[in-house]
Amino acid sequence: MSPIPPPAHSSGARPPALPAGSVPNHVAVVMDGNGRWANARGLPRTEGHRVGEETLMDVIAGAIEVGVKEISAYAFSTENWKRSPAEVRFIMGFSRQVLRNQRDDLNDWGVRVRWIGRKPKLWKSVLSELRAAEELTRNNDVLTLNLAINYGGRAEIADAMRAMAEDVQRGVISPKGISERTVGRYLYAPSMSDVDLFIRTGGEQRTSNFLMWESAYAELYFSDKAWPDFDRRELWKACEAYATRERRFGGAVDHVAGE
Ligand code: FPP
Repeated sequence: MSPIPPPAHSSGARPPALPAGSVPNHVAVVMDGNGRWANARGLPRTEGHRVGEETLMDVIAGAIEVGVKEISAYAFSTENWKRSPAEVRFIMGFSRQVLRNQRDDLNDWGVRVRWIGRKPKLWKSVLSELRAAEELTRNNDVLTLNLAINYGGRAEIADAMRAMAEDVQRGVISPKGISERTVGRYLYAPSMSDVDLFIRTGGEQRTSNFLMWESAYAELYFSDKAWPDFDRRELWKACEAYATRERRFGGAVDHVAGE
């Protein structure tokens, strides 16, 4: 079945026409500010997460419209277990519900869902919902949505190191042959592309252990808007900012003044 384009934004806004080659291929999002957004309105933190579900769907729709091919969304970190048991319980149940509610639309739009994270501690019911969404959407190729649930960047690198050490011990690989490319093969999603644009909402300016390896050369974009106030138009603004950045990946070129 061919994919159905997602609905346009309610304002009728259309994506910017960015120069060829300047649309980020992979966008990572730290969906921050839900709790503060809700509390500022006299609501419990969990209400912010609820509105955040709509934001996520709108941002995915806008990403498809502008031509982004991969989005990684940080839904629950390995550090988020420190939150109150009630909030942890809510986010686990909510993630399960979001997956169940949205998988058909995501599938219709041609989105391939993929989970990245650690198994231990993750609720089995969340994992089985993630597996069901992965299975349903596995042949889609309009956009890949990496859902980071019980994910940590350092945990991912540590897990990769452990698996590599086991393979060295079993003689599958030799220490001498370990390169950056080898490390990439042991990460949670070996086919994930490097992050081009890393967005964090909610006013904080840090990357909080998200995709540490994959974001080594990402362009960073911080928005003061809380996640529930963010939408596809804000994503497009970030893409426009990205299109003006000069990415050198450690290289350098002369830009002599006056020439
Ligand atoms: C950060 O805001 C947000 C989260 C920890 C959860 C976000 C989750 C969703 C929007 C649901 C997504 C679900 C799936 C399956 C993708 P915060 O609580 O840290 O806000 P604060 O900084 O104001 O405290």
